[in-house]
Amino acid sequence: MDKKNKNKYREYYSQYFSKETFLSPKKEKFHSNLQYLQDIGLADRKSFESRRIMEIGAGKGRLTFNLWKSELLEDVVRYDVVEPSDGIYAIKEFLQLPAAHFSKSDLVQIVQEHPPGSVDLLILHGVIPHVSIPSLREIVQQVSRLISANGEIHVTSSFFGMKKAGSRALMAFSDMTPGGETVAAFLHAGLQWAMTGCRIGCVYDFYQRHFFHSFRSGFRDRYLHFNEIMSVRPYNMDWGYANHADALRDAGFSVHSCFPHSMSLRAARTDHGMMFPPRINGEDCNVVILGNDWLGKWVAANLGIAPEHCINGVEQLAGADVVIAAYDYTKGPSYAETVRSLEARGYKFGETCFIYQMFF
Ligand SMILES: C[S@@+](CC[C@H](N)C(=O)[O-])C[C@H]1O[C@@H](n2cnc3c(N)ncnc32)[C@H](O)[C@@H]1O
Repeated sequence: MDKKNKNKYREYYSQYFSKETFLSPKKEKFHSNLQYLQDIGLADRKSFESRRIMEIGAGKGRLTFNLWKSELLEDVVRYDVVEPSDGIYAIKEFLQLPAAHFSKSDLVQIVQEHPPGSVDLLILHGVIPHVSIPSLREIVQQVSRLISANGEIHVTSSFFGMKKAGSRALMAFSDMTPGGETVAAFLHAGLQWAMTGCRIGCVYDFYQRHFFHSFRSGFRDRYLHFNEIMSVRPYNMDWGYANHADALRDAGFSVHSCFPHSMSLRAARTDHGMMFPPRINGEDCNVVILGNDWLGKWVAANLGIAPEHCINGVEQLAGADVVIAAYDYTKGPSYAETVRSLEARGYKFGETCFIYQMFF
């Protein structure tokens, strides 16, 4: 696919979804269980009961399948699955749900076709970075027309809070060179294999600082993951919490909840919005960075926190008032797991404990 065809995401995804990839339901274990839904804030029955739900950009149904299999959709009034590519047919095949409706439409079309104010929960899972409207404000304005008076918008997207210059360079190369996405994806998978497999700490850290990490196992699956990154445009990784909160505010919404899987947030028409970046500065406020590796130090430097405040683990909290999780999570545990362990110690996510991405 050369540069001029890169915005032809329908064709690309239709072809991509004909293969088994990380976007397939069931294939990717990480995204296919109740724990993942809890981590992104979509495991709460009340979010679905007696409500009209719409999922835009549902792909091949990775999230839809998980919600359905987890029996969260049983009491919905209506579940609209919207997907512009042939992935919609794959979802139609497995989703045995009387309340389901299927539209082979994109975001702009569905906003025009669907009655305004008729959706109680709109889900955008891994979609916003790909919508070919260049302004996040405009995307949010568009979809906000669908939301009922008490309705909510739920957004989940990948957000690292930093530029990964190596991957960006490969993306630029793939844009400039006909067929470059295959070479770039192959190179990316090879670099991850070589630089994270060599067991040299500084090489591993350099890779994580400058390149995207694919959690897929096996070279083929990683190659297919990177192929998507190299082939689809736009692939906007720069809109973070603050950008979303601002765009939502302009459309009359406030972010009322965040979830510890970056980036996951929920917004409604309420006055009680969360602040991004969170305000934690106080004279006597003892802030620690949970992470004493390259990432913890990078975050400390960017937030003006002394490196001595970077700690290795929860056992070193020593009564800290505020904790910011900022360690290299490719070495585990997940931030969601860490936040659960902090909450068990009395911290509250979004008030006294955070993940670093919320500050960028
Ligand atoms: C990374 S995939 C995510 C799919 C699915 N939500 C998931 O998490 O498995 C991005 C999806 O966004 C869809 N998409 C891209 N641009 C879109 C648009 N303008 N309107 C609606 N969906 C769009 C693509 O067709 C694709 O299915």
